[in-house]
Amino acid sequence: MTVDIVILAAGKGTRMRSRLPKVLQKLAGKPLLSHVLDTAGQIGNSRLHVVTGHGADKVQQAFPDYNINWILQTEQLGTGHAVMQALPSLAAEGKTLILYGDVPLVTGPSLQTLLAETTASRLALLTVKLANPHGYGRILRNNNGAVTGIVEEKDASEQQKTIAECNSGIMAVDNTVLAKLLPKIGNHNAQQEYYLTDLVELAVADGLQVSGICTVSEMEVQGVNDRKQLAALERSWQQLQAGRLMEMGVNLLDPARIDIRGKLVCGQDVSIDINCIFQGDVSIGHNVDIGANCIIGETGSRVVIGDNVVIKPNSIIEQGIIGDDCVLGPFARLRPGTELASGVKIGNFVETKKSQIGRGSKVNHLSYIGDAEIGENVNVGAGTITCNYDGVNKHRTVIRDEAFIGSNTSLVAPVTIGVKATVGAGSTVNRDVDNEELAVARANQKNIKGWPRPKKK
Ligand code: UD1
Ligand code: CA
Repeated sequence: MTVDIVILAAGKGTRMRSRLPKVLQKLAGKPLLSHVLDTAGQIGNSRLHVVTGHGADKVQQAFPDYNINWILQTEQLGTGHAVMQALPSLAAEGKTLILYGDVPLVTGPSLQTLLAETTASRLALLTVKLANPHGYGRILRNNNGAVTGIVEEKDASEQQKTIAECNSGIMAVDNTVLAKLLPKIGNHNAQQEYYLTDLVELAVADGLQVSGICTVSEMEVQGVNDRKQLAALERSWQQLQAGRLMEMGVNLLDPARIDIRGKLVCGQDVSIDINCIFQGDVSIGHNVDIGANCIIGETGSRVVIGDNVVIKPNSIIEQGIIGDDCVLGPFARLRPGTELASGVKIGNFVETKKSQIGRGSKVNHLSYIGDAEIGENVNVGAGTITCNYDGVNKHRTVIRDEAFIGSNTSLVAPVTIGVKATVGAGSTVNRDVDNEELAVARANQKNIKGWPRPKKK
């Protein structure tokens, strides 16, 4: 049996007051719609249909890697009308799951439960009891507790507004039921819209059962209609992530001050100080200490950090591999292509890019290491620059094992510094230096005896 998954994403999201279509607003660093798409992707044997309208082009362009049947709803006449546009694309037999692009945190297990409850004579709704149900459709049940309908806030009587059980909007329906009942939905209501929620009353009138599955997780069914709701949902999500990390054995100095905008996996005894942001795909070993205000990873990138690493405050690691026992920062910046072997030290105001740095080597202060290959136990003095760019092309710098680079050296690439070679401080090196040689490339010092200082006129 196939499952058609219809995601409604045509609405304008007026209350966001944004030029961006609502489903492209980001939660935990990723568009609302992509949360829904990723959860929908967990349902096997399914086809994805997304109904777009406002900003349809922008929305479609944002998801080039998904296999989606895009459906255009040119006029937004309501959620029922939106599903009607999808009807011709649905399989004759099977089940349809209806999701909302602005309800991003619904979970796979809840969707599975809804599907399991759905038969040719029963449809299933995901509901939730909310302390503040304002704005949501309310679930109507009869004396036996059976669901009989849904009434929208704007159409509800004062008495109905006191009902705490709310409609999440998410439902599962047999395709034959949908094809039969959907065309019967009218628009005689306060908003003159075709409400998908009317399907429930129509189903009951047709002798079908409606199963209301009440989830205990408010976050799972919370919709995003304005920026306050988006911010509140972001906090709930981050709180959940923080809890998950602490369960893994991570020490968070303040679980309220961490942001995970991607995937973070940690070993045991990792300690994370306040205000750190993790993005993309980050994997951290055991016994790692991360100082305050670090940004680790970028969307779409991968960072791998070994065991016993210390990352001091205010460091930025965009992408790369960091071996065991490394010490970074404060204020280090590791750009893509950085690979550090074990025991490497990268100090303050050091930037690295596309460079491999061997075991035990140190770049402790104020340096730029780009397009470089540095061997083991190399010492790079303060203020050393690999001059990798000639204005047109990039060139490589190679520094072999146990070389010593004096402070304030410019290494004009392409250039190789040999094993145990020494470069004098302040040199501009543009020729290779052989193993164990000393290179000094700076103007000779001149001392003038008894030199009279200029006098003020
Ligand atoms: C809807 C439900 C309400 C439920 C709430 C949960 C209806 C009539 N009401 O109300 O019972 O409690 O969600 O969050 O279904 N959309 C379209 N085309 C349209 C209209 C909407 O694609 O013509 C999409 C929107 O982009 C959005 C979703 O459907 O993703 C829900 O629409 P919205 O206007 O936000 O409905 P609510 O008023 O929140
Ligand atoms: Ca909504």
